[in-house]
Amino acid sequence: MKVSKGGTKMRNKQRKSSVLNFVWGLVGFALIVWLFFTSRINSSHQPSAKELEKVEEEEFRLPPPHKVNPRAVKRRGSHKYSKVIDEYLDASSALHDSFFPSETSAINPQKGGNDSMSFYPGRVWLDTSGNAIQAYGGGILYDHKTSKYYWYGENRDGPTYQVHPEGARRVDIIGVSCYSSEDLWSWTNEGIVLPGERTDITHDLHESKVLERPKVIYNDGTGQYVMWMHIDDANYTRASVGVAVSDSPTGPFSYLYSFRPHGFDSRDMTIFKDDDGTAYLFYASRVNTELHVSPLTNDYLNITSAMRRILIRRFREAPAVFKAKGTYYMITSRCSGWAPNPALAHAAHSVMGPWETLGNPCVGGNEFLRMTTFLSQSTFVLPLPGLPGTFIFMADRWNPADLRDSRYVWLPLTIGGLADEAQDYSFGFPSWSRVSIYWHRKWRLPEGWSRRYT
Ligand code: GAL
Repeated sequence: MKVSKGGTKMRNKQRKSSVLNFVWGLVGFALIVWLFFTSRINSSHQPSAKELEKVEEEEFRLPPPHKVNPRAVKRRGSHKYSKVIDEYLDASSALHDSFFPSETSAINPQKGGNDSMSFYPGRVWLDTSGNAIQAYGGGILYDHKTSKYYWYGENRDGPTYQVHPEGARRVDIIGVSCYSSEDLWSWTNEGIVLPGERTDITHDLHESKVLERPKVIYNDGTGQYVMWMHIDDANYTRASVGVAVSDSPTGPFSYLYSFRPHGFDSRDMTIFKDDDGTAYLFYASRVNTELHVSPLTNDYLNITSAMRRILIRRFREAPAVFKAKGTYYMITSRCSGWAPNPALAHAAHSVMGPWETLGNPCVGGNEFLRMTTFLSQSTFVLPLPGLPGTFIFMADRWNPADLRDSRYVWLPLTIGGLADEAQDYSFGFPSWSRVSIYWHRKWRLPEGWSRRYT
């Protein structure tokens, strides 16, 4: 049979290309096998947050409803759990005791053993010298210079009293405490880094006034540690923010001044430092009906003139702001004084808003615990380096009968899955990830996690 030259060329070409296809196929297959195994090897070295996302149910019997305090109803509005919350806040009730367990069950870093590195929300938490940690309404700073975490908060280690029967229960200003840690579990007392003022009654920090929710950030430009806080008088009518500054994370901090941001009243507040170094002040304003957000000046010692009103008519306070994968998130509480209420998560593409409300982030426990933010109020959300999308939600379980014996509720918070509610702008199509705070009676940071990931 006669085969044309052109036909042979064509067949050779086809053979060549099928050999090439085969080789490329082999290369592709080898690449997939390699990727599969290397990803498994890598992931076996990475700590995983999966354990933290276990849904733990709680069963406990709530007491039968008892007489309602009409004043409390007036203050908080009627609420399915109002009576139970009243009972929980009543220091003489058994319900109170079960959520404020005695010091015998304290978290104690001096003991270690099986409980080493275990967080127990609601238990007394001792520092490395065996004293109960006093850092309420607090926040945490990771300091790259000393490779340590610093926890700042209200020291309330004094008697609780009321100025008048209608007034909020209070403790005189003692100052801002600071604790340091390398593992987020065992905390060393670094002392009071901003003390209250004993004699000068005109001073913002005079013991008869109010200093709440101190937060510290580091300014890379000036090398200073800058503290912002809520400054008020005993009746909460001053409604200002205060600023203090230090060259060291452990103070002493020099108090600079207080003012009403943009001329508005400012109560619960927080500050947030973004990845680009811009910092922002968030404050509850217009008698707690809305939040305002404003960028700080480059030295973090003041606010700029820019300001946005957000979550208008939502009555939110206790803001805790954080960022995941380029999206900004915030947890807030409703305004009900020391009494717990349901938290809400919010999200935004820009810090300045608009902010959209996603819903109640609490998962597990039971309905009562979810409707009371596990009997606590937000104060800060701490990113866990090396675990993208995983955070520690920090909250206070206030004990208005004896504020110095309030407790800390720290729980894992993760971002992922679809938000179950998107109430403001998404027209029913949630475009955000869900923010979840998982209830655990006892939990630990994932195996292998350490601050070396910072
Ligand atoms: C809460 C606020 C606390 C404290 C308390 C006083 O609403 O979040 O920081 O100010 O009121 O009653």
